[in-house]
Parts: sequence; C-alpha cells; structure tokens
Amino acid sequence: MQTIKHTFIGPIRQAVTMANLPLKGALKDEQLQVIQEAGILIKDEEIYEIGPYWDLYPEAQSIGAEMISLKGDFVALPGLVDCHTHICFGGSRAQDYAMRNAGKSYLEIAKSGGGIWDTVSQTRKASLDKLAQLTVQRANRHLKDGITTIEVKSGYGLAIEEELKMLRAIKLANKNTLADLIPTCLAAHIPPKDFQGTNKDYLKTIADEVFPILKIEGLSNRIDAFIEETAFTAEDIQPYFQKAKEMGFDITVHADQFHAGGSQVAVNIGAISADHLESSTDKEIELLASSDTIAVALPGASLGLGMAYTPARKLLDSGATLAIASDWNPGSAPMGDLLMQASVLGTFEKLSNAEVLAGITYRAAAALGIKNRGTLEVGKLADIILFPTDDYQEITYQQGRLKPTIIIKNGVKV
Ligand code: NIG
Ligand code: FE
Repeated sequence: MQTIKHTFIGPIRQAVTMANLPLKGALKDEQLQVIQEAGILIKDEEIYEIGPYWDLYPEAQSIGAEMISLKGDFVALPGLVDCHTHICFGGSRAQDYAMRNAGKSYLEIAKSGGGIWDTVSQTRKASLDKLAQLTVQRANRHLKDGITTIEVKSGYGLAIEEELKMLRAIKLANKNTLADLIPTCLAAHIPPKDFQGTNKDYLKTIADEVFPILKIEGLSNRIDAFIEETAFTAEDIQPYFQKAKEMGFDITVHADQFHAGGSQVAVNIGAISADHLESSTDKEIELLASSDTIAVALPGASLGLGMAYTPARKLLDSGATLAIASDWNPGSAPMGDLLMQASVLGTFEKLSNAEVLAGITYRAAAALGIKNRGTLEVGKLADIILFPTDDYQEITYQQGRLKPTIIIKNGVKV
C-alpha cells in the first residue's frame, strides 16, 4: 500500500501566494495576497492547506506531518518558472561577447558566419551524454536560485539527428535533476549552412521527419522559430507552423528582437507566447494585448547585447500578459540569473513588485501552458521557495542578490 506523506512548514513571516490575480494587464502590490505568519501543509507532492500557521498546526500534528520548523524570518513564494532558455549547448561564445563589446553587432557576427552557427558546431561535437550532463549542471544552478521549472530549447543541432540528439539529451537531463525541464523544439533557429536546399525545404524536412518523432518519443509538445533577417521570414514559417498546429503542438516565437514582424506571425497562428519584443512598436503591443498570446520579456538578452529592454510597461498598460524569462544561452544571454534580470527590468520599465513576481511565477507557467504551478494554493504542486527576509519587497529591492535559502520541489526539500 502506498503511504501518504505530510509535511508542515512554518511559521513563514510572509507567504506571497500569487493567487487570485488576473492573467492579463497591470498589477498593483496591494493586489498581492500576503499571508502573515503562514503555514503550508503539504500532502505528497501538493499543497494540501495554506493559512495562518497556528490555525493549521493542530491538524498537522494530529496527522503526524513531518515538521519543517523555521527559525528566523522567511518570505515564501511559489517556485520560480523560467519559460525561455537555451541551456542545452556545447562550448562558449566568450569571443563573441568580446567582439560585440569591441563594436561588432550581434547581427554582423551572425552574417559573417559566427554567432548561433558557432554554437551549432560546438554542440554537434558534444555527445548526447555530455549535453545532458551540461544541461543538468545548468538546471541545478537555476534550481539553487529557486527556479523549479525550466523550459529548455533545442536549436543548436539544425539537422534531423542533431536536433533529436539535443531533445533526447534534454529528456535524459530531466531525469537527472529535481527541476522540471520543459523541452521545446527550436529546429527553426537559423537556416543551417550545410543544408542543400531552400529555407522552406529545410523546414519541410524538419516538419516531415522530426515532428512525428517528437510525438512518438515524447520529446516535446512545443515548436519555436526565430523570425528575423538572419533567420526565417514570416512567409518561410507559415507552412511549418501550420503543420505544427495541425499536429497539436503549442507554438512559440522568437519575435521582434531586432526588427518587428514576428509577433504578427505569433498572433496570426495563435501562438502561446511571443518572446523578445525588444523592437515591438505600438502596433505590435496592441496586437499582443488584444490576443491570447503571452508576451515574454528577456532582459538577460538586453543585458547581454547592451540593447533596449522589451517595452514591458507599455505591454502591461495595454492589457497584455507579461512573463519574464532569462533566455539563458551562450550568445545573447550568458548570465542566466533570472531573479536579477527580472528585478532590473522592473527598475528600467517601472514595474511593480507584483508585476515582476507574476512574470516569473504564474504568468510564466501560463506561457508554458502548465496549470498546476506558479501560485501557492491548495491543489497546486508544492514548489515553494523561502527567502531569508521579513519583507517580500526586499527580493526585487536587492535586485536578485537575495536568493532563497530553502527550496522545496514537489513537496521535498532540495
Ligand atoms: O533568444 N535570438 C535568437 N536566439 C537566441 C540566441 C541564441 C544564441 O545567440 O546562441 C535568443 O537570444
Ligand atoms: Fe531565445
């Protein structure tokens, strides 16, 4: 017979539940539900009760819950969700970074054959096991920072077997880390230099040969593409996304990073998210706000490239859903510190604490189409992070330096 395990945590000075907040639009801190002196009772992997510690204490004791008794002040948040990363890769692009700082642009480096293609060469050289190991290392670093769910893209293989190798490595990595890895197929990252045929031929080959295997092996439910001058056009991608949609994949787009256009593609196809948006104009902002496509800001890419931030304030004020992700990758966003980046975006874009925290919790979960996490509520996954402070405002105030010191994933202390 399976035994049920109960755990009781507290007293927590402030539990910021992120519950009962709207998916779309601006948020004020007064809207946050903050439970003072809270307790959380966990049953197996889920939150069973949440409320004032001393109200729940007798029940916790009578059912023999294991007690995680906190000494000192802690603020609890739901485990963070990073809905956009490229942490499965080989090699480094420190050289690109130095070149950019010396004056060459990201697009110039790409056009001269470096950039993403350089990482493709280095990733192709790595074995599946090696890629899995590197992905686990990076996922564990993220988990330590309180990120309990991490989206991970392929896109450095750019050939049938190489893309499959990456996605199989991500699947293997998922078995070897306590964080949940959500895989996305980004075979449409850039046109591979060594493919014989047009961009459309390449995309057709991937759709015909790779999409069915993703389904059979359970490698990914999500298809991504980069719409940009150095990548794919709206016209190239149309049949590819159409096929993906017919097969039941969720679609996400690297959109409006250097030139506007991708978000129109995303909205037209009914994508779950449009990510980047640094070059979105009022037209794209309106388009996203009046759609169900979630806007994802990637401040790590703005920091990595030294360019403008996504117009997060305008997106929220127009009524869009705004998630915030790290884009952790070897090229444009090598830092990989989600909390720091989200806090800094808040400073530059004048976001409330509620908007920053929503962007890396329940709104990011929505960008991944995952309903069972992102808030501290009964029935949700017990992914809980605890910061050693007595005031939740310290989290963004310290701009990412204050990290959680207790992390609970699926009801278990990491
Ligand atoms: O999201 N923009 C395209 N792709 C990645 C960068 C990948 C790379 O430079 O290796 C991004 O920024
Ligand atoms: Fe990206």
